[in-house]
Amino acid sequence: MSRGRTLDDPIELARLVPPGELGELVASIERALDCRITIRDQAGVVLAGAAEAGATERPFDHEGERLGAIAASGPQAAAGIALAIDMLGLLVHHAHARELAAATHEEAMQVTFGELTEHNQRLTRAVSRLEELDRLKSNFLATMSHELRTPLTSVIGYAEMMAEGLAGPVSGEQKDYLTTILGKADQLLGLITSVLDVSSLETGQLALERSQLSLAEVVASEVAIFQPQAGRRGIAIQLSSQGDTVVVGDRRKIRQIVSSLLSNAVKFTPDRGKVGVEVRPGPLAPGDDDTPSAVQLVVRDSGIGISREAVAKIFEPFYQADSSSTRAFGGTGLGLTLAKAYVEAHGGRIWVDTAPGAGSTFVATFPIAREPAREEPRA
Ligand SMILES: Nc1ncnc2c1ncn2[C@@H]1O[C@H](COP(=O)(O)OP(=O)(O)O)[C@@H](O)[C@H]1O
Ligand SMILES: [Mg+2]
Repeated sequence: MSRGRTLDDPIELARLVPPGELGELVASIERALDCRITIRDQAGVVLAGAAEAGATERPFDHEGERLGAIAASGPQAAAGIALAIDMLGLLVHHAHARELAAATHEEAMQVTFGELTEHNQRLTRAVSRLEELDRLKSNFLATMSHELRTPLTSVIGYAEMMAEGLAGPVSGEQKDYLTTILGKADQLLGLITSVLDVSSLETGQLALERSQLSLAEVVASEVAIFQPQAGRRGIAIQLSSQGDTVVVGDRRKIRQIVSSLLSNAVKFTPDRGKVGVEVRPGPLAPGDDDTPSAVQLVVRDSGIGISREAVAKIFEPFYQADSSSTRAFGGTGLGLTLAKAYVEAHGGRIWVDTAPGAGSTFVATFPIAREPAREEPRA
């Protein structure tokens, strides 16, 4: 940045008023009055007019500072000097005011620039601190989940052994209690696993184990798992599939996607409602033309639906549309977050068509396998 004049620079006559203007000033006074005028700077150097021997000289000041001197000779020398001092005073006053304004502006700009630079540096520091905290949080989640899972596996193992009578005969009531313990422990294990999965998403460790598989088959086996619990609430899960549904993907992750969508459909549908699952070739994304470039998994329900504001957030970690309903429905708000991450890791898309009270239709797509399955290189 080039530095201009600052407020502390000394005032100089030659700088403030260009030589041409000084020359004109002298000429006009000499035309009006019978005299010869000379203008000198602080050092005595002649700036305008010709120096005459025996001239009267008077100092020229501006705001208490000596800028130079004016000399005059001839019959009207005294009037010439007075006029010259007045006129030069005006010129200098205006020039100085302009220069001050420019300098003030530039200093203000420099202050602003300095403040901005400092502000930027503070922001950069804050961002890297946040990134660091985010990393720590993800590592913490991963470590904690691991530490929680290990003892829980023992709880489940010993409870199972007891239930099987390995530690001696178990009464009917004891068996009921053990079943509850096992159910809750399983629920806790599922929750911890989800947290672990989400934290590994955040630390960017999402490796797929790809193999060729039939999406219709995977879906059928998941539907079979949900059928009994849905049946108890009078919900029949309709399953249909058509065409070739072979995709290349990670079987465990795809099962998790299907299970997430199915469990939501059943969970958010009132008793005796309807859930329909369809697997079919179709477009990869909602706006695409109809040429089937993907296998679509469509999960429809006649449940409570989702408001427009909530739809924007349901794929975010821990988000649940209605905090009062979470107590009624349970869950962690991680299912759809994981489903979306897994679908996208496969190159697919996930979206929902829904309105409050009108049920929901979730669609997840998987690109059609064009190449034979390859093993992903392990990281
Ligand atoms: N089929 C559905 N019908 C109505 N609301 C749904 C449906 N699926 C998801 N939601 C809403 O999206 C939220 C997030 O879903 P999800 O990530 O699976 O979390 P969770 O099931 O643990 O609450 C749910 O809490 C619910 O509010
Ligand atoms: Mg869910």
